[in-house]
Amino acid sequence: MVDEASSAQDIAAPSPDGITVLVVDDERSNVESLEKIFLREGMRVLTAHDAKHALEQVRSHRVHVVLTDLMMPGTTGLELLRAIKQLNPEVEVVLMTAYGSVEAAVSAMREGAYDFVEKPLKRITIVKSVRKAAERGKLVAENRSLKNEIKLLTKREIVGSSPAWRRVIDVSTQAAPSLATVLVLGESGTGKELLARYIHERSSRGKGPFLAVNCAAIPETILESELFGHERGAFTGAITKKDGRFAKAGGGTLFLDEIGELSPAVQVKLLRVLQEGEYEPLGGNTVKADVRIVAATNRDLLAEVAAGRFREDLFYRLNVIAVTAPPLRARREDVPLLVDHFLGLYCAKNGRPRLNPTRGALEKLLDYGWPGNVRELENVIERAVVLSRSDQLTELDLPDVIARAVPGTPTALAFEIGTTLDDIELRVIKETLRHTKGDKSVAAQLLGISTRTIYRKLDGVEGQDTKESPPSGRPQV
Ligand SMILES: Nc1ncnc2c1ncn2[C@@H]1O[C@H](COP(=O)(O)OP(=O)(O)OP(=O)(O)O)[C@@H](O)[C@H]1O
Ligand SMILES: [Mg+2]
Repeated sequence: MVDEASSAQDIAAPSPDGITVLVVDDERSNVESLEKIFLREGMRVLTAHDAKHALEQVRSHRVHVVLTDLMMPGTTGLELLRAIKQLNPEVEVVLMTAYGSVEAAVSAMREGAYDFVEKPLKRITIVKSVRKAAERGKLVAENRSLKNEIKLLTKREIVGSSPAWRRVIDVSTQAAPSLATVLVLGESGTGKELLARYIHERSSRGKGPFLAVNCAAIPETILESELFGHERGAFTGAITKKDGRFAKAGGGTLFLDEIGELSPAVQVKLLRVLQEGEYEPLGGNTVKADVRIVAATNRDLLAEVAAGRFREDLFYRLNVIAVTAPPLRARREDVPLLVDHFLGLYCAKNGRPRLNPTRGALEKLLDYGWPGNVRELENVIERAVVLSRSDQLTELDLPDVIARAVPGTPTALAFEIGTTLDDIELRVIKETLRHTKGDKSVAAQLLGISTRTIYRKLDGVEGQDTKESPPSGRPQV
């Protein structure tokens, strides 16, 4: 029986706070009085008189807390605890123990019980314990979903199947295990950092650190000590010895982003590390470098060399293997894949059901020039997911500049009465190809047919004027 006299507030107004508690005890009177108590607290109450029934309840309802008697005929509370935790580790369990059975209670706690309350039960104590258990369950669940979200966002999948992108991935895959210095070139937002990580992860240093340094973001005056570190007293303000990024990336990969921004002094020091494999921290002795360098820039480094702003010898040291990430406009067939990828990512992040783009929206996304490349596309999709009010991604969800994007060719075709269906079909295919700048897989997607069908329909057509347009990106490696 429960000592209700010790209650601080006797008739608590039921405040539905979403807690479901399952009370398990073979003593029916006990179950009844506990049920009353929790109902008065505004909780949802389920009851069971044995472990078997209790497990059924846990299986079929979202139970937050199980309050169970430790000693029951048949399956004990401890066994029930184990079974519950196996079934759903998120369910918190509070045990009711007879006075003096602290030993059993302690081992129950070790098995994952949240708390135990001693009989005779005091209303205030059990309510407090059950509430706290529910609170912890909620925290654990929140923490887990946060972790999942972080995992989702930090796990950067690489998407793209265009020939241009596949070439980039092929070169990167081959370069990865060699430990040679890699120079990643490409416009802003094309995925240079993503490629650097890809190379790191596939190298023998993959388990080591991957450290990115944005050379443009660190003031010139401190970049040197930031990269190479300094001894105590090396300069005014150097109160303690500090490791540089070269030391911190030891055993791993150092990603030097915006390498075109390096000052002449740092260029010399970097050249030395690349040539000799060693460097001196400011005010310190020579140390061996244990890093693989991947560098990136969106500048035309050769032009920088010609202009005398970048050392030629350093350029050749960095340019052992070059990988050029092509701009998105040079691989439009990747746009639908990327749209799909980012829709999945951001719908999940925003806890929304999966959106699909309408044909109109997809056409606009294909027509647009993407000066900001994949990063711009990612931002556009994230924005659309947040703004969209329907279960589709429509043109209305796109920024004006994209919704207004005009393709270079007309979007409507007219035919004379009497044109054969075969001719109409061929014209539509050709005009669509012109519209996709010769890209057959995007054209196939727009037409709702396979690329093979396009090839078949075009087969034997004289004077093919639908050849792929020459790539407009930088030359591929
Ligand atoms: N092929 C791809 N697949 C999936 N996501 C991509 C791809 N390319 C780029 N992204 C995403 O686009 C964004 C920009 O990529 P990243 O930072 O690697 O570009 P960047 O070339 O280093 O840009 P910047 O020159 O501006 O530093 C990132 O969020 C990245 O995850
Ligand atoms: Mg970058």
